[in-house]
Amino acid sequence: MIRAIYAGSFDPVTFGHLDIIRRSSNVADELIVGVLNNRAKCPLFSVEERVKMLEDVTRELSNVKIQSFTGLLAEFARTCGANLIVRGLRAISDFDYELQMAQTNRKLNPQIDTMFLTTSLEYAYLSSTTVKEVAEFGGDISAFVPALIIEPMQRRVRERAANK
Ligand code: PNS
Repeated sequence: MIRAIYAGSFDPVTFGHLDIIRRSSNVADELIVGVLNNRAKCPLFSVEERVKMLEDVTRELSNVKIQSFTGLLAEFARTCGANLIVRGLRAISDFDYELQMAQTNRKLNPQIDTMFLTTSLEYAYLSSTTVKEVAEFGGDISAFVPALIIEPMQRRVRERAANK
């Protein structure tokens, strides 16, 4: 029985994340998408909003559950009884950080292994950070995020700009 965790900030969830969620949900019996509650990073969306968005866009995947977490991923994995962490690798530049994180997580929780999926080519350039930047400058984000994220994203970016 493989219970896997795919963790991230998902601020916002992109087509690149969804690609990894879909593919890892085919490999795992259960996939828990862990949404980091990272208030210190000043996210665009609250953790509750990010959880809701992920629930909406993964609704058709019956073995996928969305949960928020705080603190260490290795501890969250222990609490969930997970035995696998899934990460997406977009480019070689991701590798140093990912290797360090995988080794640290295994030291913290020897029950856990990390599995890397290479991001599908069409999403290799994509990150939440660049999507936020495109939205902030009024660009078209429809190629980057699911349709139901577009309007909330544009609204939140406008609210942020008005409060500056
Ligand atoms: O969306 P991201 O930035 O790729 O997500 C990174 C995440 C959430 C997976 C990573 O920052 C994380 O695991 N944070 C929890 C804290 C932790 O366990 N840090 C030690 C890992 S070396």
